[in-house]
Amino acid sequence: MEKRVVDTKVGAEDGALDLSLRPKLLTDFIGQRQVVSNLRTFIDAAKNRNEPLDHVLLSGPPGLGKTTLAHIVANEMGVGVRITSGPAIERKGDIAAILTALEPCDVLFIDEIHRLNRVVEELLYSAMEDFALDIILGQGPSAKSIRLPLPRFTLVGATTRTGLLTSPLRDRFGVTFRLEFYRPEDLEEVIRRSAKVLSIPVDDEGAKEIARRSRGTPRVANRLLRRVRDFAQVDGDGRINRKIADHALLKMEVDREGLDIMDRKILRVIVEKFQGGPVGVDTISASISEERDTIEDVYEPFLLQQGFLKRTPRGRVATPSAYRHLGLAPPKRPPQQEGLFGDG
Ligand SMILES: Nc1ncnc2c1ncn2[C@@H]1O[C@H](COP(=O)(O)OP(=O)(O)O)[C@@H](O)[C@H]1O
Ligand SMILES: [Mg+2]
Repeated sequence: MEKRVVDTKVGAEDGALDLSLRPKLLTDFIGQRQVVSNLRTFIDAAKNRNEPLDHVLLSGPPGLGKTTLAHIVANEMGVGVRITSGPAIERKGDIAAILTALEPCDVLFIDEIHRLNRVVEELLYSAMEDFALDIILGQGPSAKSIRLPLPRFTLVGATTRTGLLTSPLRDRFGVTFRLEFYRPEDLEEVIRRSAKVLSIPVDDEGAKEIARRSRGTPRVANRLLRRVRDFAQVDGDGRINRKIADHALLKMEVDREGLDIMDRKILRVIVEKFQGGPVGVDTISASISEERDTIEDVYEPFLLQQGFLKRTPRGRVATPSAYRHLGLAPPKRPPQQEGLFGDG
C-alpha cells in the first residue's frame, strides 16, 4: 500500500532528518509547556542533589516528541543514553546485559515499553526500584538467587497509551507525562525552525497553512514541509507561500482539516456501511484492512480530538462534523446520542 504522507510513524526517509531536526535542549523543545516546565524543575532538582532523575514515562500518539524528550533528558542531565525498545529485548539475558553496562546516572530509553514480554518486565521491577538485578542460578532445590547491584540509572519509557502498561510497571515510574497534540501556532514554530535548518524559504502564511494541516504532529509537519518544498520547486518558484502550500497539500490529498485518505476512509466506512455507528474497532479494522493497533494509535486519537469521532460503550460513532466533512447531511437524530446514556 502507498505510504501516507501524514503517516505519523518513522519512515525510512525520516531517519537522518529526524536527527538533524530534533531539538537537543529543553529550551528548543516547542510547545507542551506544562511538560517542559515540570521536566525543567525535576531535572534541576535532581542535578542539585547529584542524583539521577526519577524514572519517566512518556505517553502519546506517534510523532509528538517522546524519543526527542528522552534524548533531551540525557543531554540536560549531562549523562549517556542507551536506546532500545520493548520488542527488541527478548530474553532476560538481553535486559541484564543492557542494565549491567549502564554508567551511573545514565538514561535507559525503552521505546514501546508496553511491548516488553512478561519475564523481562518482571526483571525490570527490582532494577527500577532497588537498582538491583535478581538472578537465579541453577535449577530445582539447589537453585539459589543472587542479587546483583546495578548503577543508579533513569529509565525513560515511551508508549502510545499508558493503559497498555501493566500497573506494577506503571507504578514504578516517578513521573508520567502525557504528550498532547500540538496547537497550530506551535506547529508553525516547528515548521519555521525546520525550514531554517533545511534552508527552505517559507513565508508566514505558508508555514501557517502547513501547520494547520499537520494533524497536530511535529513529525507530520516536518514531512509535509519537505513535500511542499518539492511542489514549490517544480510547480512554483521554490518559495513556499499559502497558495503553493494549499496546492501541494491538495495534490497529496491532505484536506483542509489535515485529514488524509485513510482518515476519510475510516469516517466514510462508519457513515456509509454502519449508519454512523456505533461500530467496534475490530469491525472497522476488517472493513478497511488496517490493523486495529494502527487505527487506535495513529488515526483515532486525532479524529477523536478533532471531534469527528466519538467513543461510546458500544463502539465508535461518527459525529455531525464527520458527516459535514464528507459533504453529507448529518442524520436528524445524531446516532451518538444512543449509547451515551447507558443503553449500551
Ligand atoms: N516539541 C518539538 N519541537 C520541535 N520539533 C519536534 C518536537 N517534537 C517532535 N519534534 C520533531 O518531530 C520528530 C518526531 O519526534 P519523535 O521524538 O521521534 O516522536 P515520537 O518518539 O513521539 O514518535 C523529531 O525528529 C523532531 O524533529
Ligand atoms: Mg519515537
